[in-house]
Parts: sequence; structure tokens; C-alpha cells
Amino acid sequence: MSDKKELFHPSAEVIANATIKDYDSLYQRSIEDREGFWAEQANELEWYEPWDKVLDDSNKPFFKWFSGAKTNIVHNAIDRHLHNATRNKLAIIWESEAGEMCSYSYYALNREVSQMANTLKSMGVKKGDIVTIYMPQIPELVFAMLACAKIGAAHSVVYGGFSYEALAARIADANSHVLITADGGWRRGKPTNLKAIANEAMKRSPTIEVCITVKYNQLDVEMESERDFWYHDLKALPIASPKCETEVLDSEDMLFVLYTSGTTGKPKGMVHTHGGYSVYTATTHRMAFDIKPDDRWWCAADPGWITGHSYIVYAPLINGSTIMMYEGAPNYPYPNRWWQMVEKYGINVMYTSPTAIRGLMRFGDQWPKRHDLSSLRLLGSVGEPINPEAWRWFYDVIGGSRCPIIDTWWQTETGGFMICPLPITPLKPGSATKPFFGNEIGVVDDNGDEVPAGEEGKLVIKNPWPGMARTIMGDDQRYADLYWGDYGDKEYYKAGDSAKVDDDGYIWVIGRMDEVLKVSGYRLGTAEIESALVSHPLVSEAAAIGLPHELKGNAIHTYAILKEGVAGTNELAQELKAHVAAELGRIAQPEDVTFVDALPKTRSGKIMRRVLRARALGQDEGDLSTLEE
Ligand code: PRX
Repeated sequence: MSDKKELFHPSAEVIANATIKDYDSLYQRSIEDREGFWAEQANELEWYEPWDKVLDDSNKPFFKWFSGAKTNIVHNAIDRHLHNATRNKLAIIWESEAGEMCSYSYYALNREVSQMANTLKSMGVKKGDIVTIYMPQIPELVFAMLACAKIGAAHSVVYGGFSYEALAARIADANSHVLITADGGWRRGKPTNLKAIANEAMKRSPTIEVCITVKYNQLDVEMESERDFWYHDLKALPIASPKCETEVLDSEDMLFVLYTSGTTGKPKGMVHTHGGYSVYTATTHRMAFDIKPDDRWWCAADPGWITGHSYIVYAPLINGSTIMMYEGAPNYPYPNRWWQMVEKYGINVMYTSPTAIRGLMRFGDQWPKRHDLSSLRLLGSVGEPINPEAWRWFYDVIGGSRCPIIDTWWQTETGGFMICPLPITPLKPGSATKPFFGNEIGVVDDNGDEVPAGEEGKLVIKNPWPGMARTIMGDDQRYADLYWGDYGDKEYYKAGDSAKVDDDGYIWVIGRMDEVLKVSGYRLGTAEIESALVSHPLVSEAAAIGLPHELKGNAIHTYAILKEGVAGTNELAQELKAHVAAELGRIAQPEDVTFVDALPKTRSGKIMRRVLRARALGQDEGDLSTLEE
């Protein structure tokens, strides 16, 4: 873990610009009167009918929020903006890898979403159905998600990099009758072939009756008559009218299901609902990033995972921001691609992942230095603990030592940020800092009792919050068993991460519990070892796993991607082993360092250590459906 004494204080300018200037007192209020706090936040949004109860906890752990209220997330994300100046503001700026760009005002977004909503209705989609969406990162993906929500259907977005088996399994679980896809997308100048994969999946998906395909990369694709329709053909018909009423829904009606992999077993379909999710995502986005009316917001994730759902699509639209979207590789054709777009579009807030930062950092400072990045006001990180070297590069080189880094800890299950700083929070690189308002976070032992400061324990959330997933689709029992009920009377949500709290109350997430190694009885986070390796000037990315060892119980084995042009010699391997030992102590010295060109990762950028482990042990690699590329 990094030097915890290092504190980065916000500048006077950041403090002067901050809406919330006192975290402690608002936090105190938010946990003393949690329901009052959330009611106040909910009142920032419009509702068709108010709630009877802010929190209904009569059937724990199946909590309900704003029960009795009538709402639709689309009313807050689009409809209400049409009655004020936001109507003419850009909702989406989009650029393709080839450099084409287009943009949509909120007024245009409403038209596009309404046309898609009416098209879906004409295909028989109705309230309660789940539509599967399998698309590249193009505006139509956002239209499709919002169109489903608008008519009261739920969406299940399957990341465009998934295989046909993964897609078919998700279609079957959701019992989808309609699939929305595209011919394909682009990656490093080469077309990807989504429709062909969708066709393979549909051979295994008897429930699908209709497949709507958006034409994007112009690839020749096979269309089956009576099942397959081009969206541009449908859009030209009177069925795709640009006027569509937004369906009035219950607060607890399902908005979407999103599949996330556990470490083992079949993917879990996490269910999120309209009311609480609207309030939670909008509030976390507005407060953590102190969203200003004219912000240009770029969350460089994929809409196919929760970060994209919450912080590309829903929260920024509810808050009336302008969203940047880019369909393509971050370093194509050159490693300045992202920075070029930050300059070109005047991006104010950029939210990305440590893995992306490290990936771009290895090409050196000269690429971002070619661009004027002075529009940036805040930076954000998500997905894994950020190692101090990546933090400092992001902070100094991208943010010009001016922009606080909002490191947000959360999960598919939590819907939105749970632990994160505000712009005014003094930062410690590698710590997501303090709980977001309304949340009491604990680091506990097996009995649910708080461990002393500095000691490692299990990360739990001691209270319900509006953005929480309501269940695992079709498996309430698994939801209750997996996340709740380990600690008797203490009704804690179990995050599955291990963490420490330091003397200042800062929370340090170490990693998934299954990624903690016991070596000679000592506990070591794989992330700690990786961070130590990456702190060596010649290493750009690293992974650590534990393999059985006769004497030590487990021994550490590591994999390293070197900076461009560096040769992986035996001497360097020895040097790196010594470097880790010097950083963390001899106990953490790896047995070996294997030089690799790539690491197996999930779409959300997390290293799939179990795949490395299985490979090293010559075992079956298990479910690879979440593996990137
Ligand atoms: O281990 C934590 C890690 O990502 C897990 C959740 O993964 P997923 O559901 O894919 O959602 C990722 C995006 C929200 C967590 O259990 N994680 C996420 N953010 C952080 C993090 N670990 C440390 N610091 C973070 N900021």
C-alpha cells in the first residue's frame, strides 16, 4: 500500500468553486436522518406522484425506496429538460474511431428515443419485457436503453465484446423476445462483426422473435427475413413516430438487469429499478463531481457495464450534462487520441479506470503534452484500487496538478458511488477516501465487529441506500445468501472486498477477497504486489497470483508488461523481484516474473487472476465470458 501520509490538498480555487464546502456536517446529518436526506435529494427530481414511504424495510433484505411514488427515469433524464433552456443544449457529443462526429441536443435526443420507443412498441414490446441490447458504443445504444425505459420495458445490455455463448445465455436468462444490435463497430481500424455473433447467439435463443439492426460499420451481414429488420428501414415508417408518451411507472418497477460475473458460477443478473436508482445516481454524480450546468462530461467506460449505465447514460442526463462518447481504441491511431478529444471538445470532467490510465501512461508524457488540457476541472477513477504511480501521472500530467482525482469505489450491485471524495476532500493516492452521504461503511471481522484501524477486514455497508440492486433476477435466495445475513442481527451488505481504515478514517480497498494471498501466514493483496511492480520505472502493468507452495502455503508469481521498447531479460526479472521485496518487504518477494504482452482482463479492466492461476496450474480456465477481446 502507498505512503499514507501523503496528502493532496485541494487548491484555493477548487475550494472556492465547490458547492459543498463542509463534508463532515452534511455527512453527519445524512446518517442521522437518512430518510430525510434522501427525501431532500429525491425532491431535486420530478415525480408524477409522490411516495408514501422513503424507505420500506418491511421485508429485509428486499428494501424498497420511494414506494408508492409514480415515476419514470426518462421523465427526469429527458422530458423535464424539454421545458427549459436545457432543451437546446447538447446531450451527446459522439466521435467514431475514424473521426466522424455527431451531436444531439436534448430536443433531438427526445425525438430519437421516441422513434425507437414507438418502433419497439410496434414490435410488440410492452411493460415488463426485457429487451436485450448488443451494440457498439454508438448513440443508438443510448437511444435503445432510454426507449426501453420510456415504455416501461427493462433493458439487458450485453457488452459488445462478449461471445455468442455469453450473449445467448443472457438472452435466455432474460427471456428476451427482442434483440437490438448493429452490423458491427470498429477497433483499431478493423471492423468488428456484431451481427454475425448475434446470429450465432440467436440460433441458440428460441425466445427471440425480432432482431433490430442498426447500420453502422457497413459490414455485409446476414439478415433472416421475418425476424431481422434494419433500424433505418423501420425508422422511415409511420410506426416510428417522434411523439411518444412516457409510461407512468411505479418507483420499484424494473429499469434494467445487468449481468456481472461472480468469481465462479453463472453470471448474476442484478436488477435495478426506476425510482431509487434515479435519485442515487443523479445525487452521487452531482455531488461527487460537483456538476456545473455547462459541464462537458466524459465517462470513458463502455455502456455495457454499470459505469456506463449509471454515469454515461442516466446520471449525467438527469443532471442535464453534455455527455462525450467515443467508439474506438484509446490509443488509435496514436496514443494521443483521448487527449486530442479532451482538447477538441473542451471536456471538463474525465472519469476513467486505472487500467486505462496505466495503458496510456506507458507511451510517455509527450502524447498528452501535445494538447491543451486546461478545460479539465476534475478527474475520476473507478474499477480497482489505483496505484500511486498511475494516480500521480493522471494528476500531474493530465490534470496539470490542478484537478482533484475523484476515486470512486462502488459495484454493479450498488448502482452508484459508495465511497468517494468530494472536490474539497484532501486526497491520498490509492484511497477512495470517505463514505458517500447516507452510507455507513464498516471494515469488520467474521463476527461483524469492527477491526482496529490499520488492520484488514471485510468491507460492509451497514445501511440500505436508494441505488442498491433489488435482487438477482429469478433468484432472491441467492441474493439474500450472497450479500446479506452473515452477521446475525447486524444487517450488513457484504461487498466481497477486503479493506483497511487508517487513523484518519480513510478507507483503503485492498481488493476482492479472493485476490488476497496468504504467504507464510502473511496476508498480501495482489493489488499491493502489482502496485509495487508498477512503481518500477520500466513496468507498465503487472499481475500477481498465488500458487500453492510446499513451505509457504502460497507463493507469489507475477506477470509484467514492460514499457515500450524495454527488453524482458533475466537480469530485469531479478531486479524486479528485488524491487518488490524492497517496496513491501522480503515476504512479498515474488518467486518469478514472467514478461507478457497482455493480461487477461474483464471488460471493466480487472485482471482475471483466476485465469492466470488456471493457466499456470494447467487447469481448466473456467467461464471466460467476461474476458476482454
Ligand atoms: O473490488 C472492487 C472494485 O471493483 C469491484 C466491483 O466491480 P464491478 O461490479 O465490475 O463494478 C466496477 C465499477 C463500479 C469492487 O468490488 N472497485 C471498483 N471501484 C474501485 C474498486 N476497488 C478499489 N477502488 C475503487 N475505486
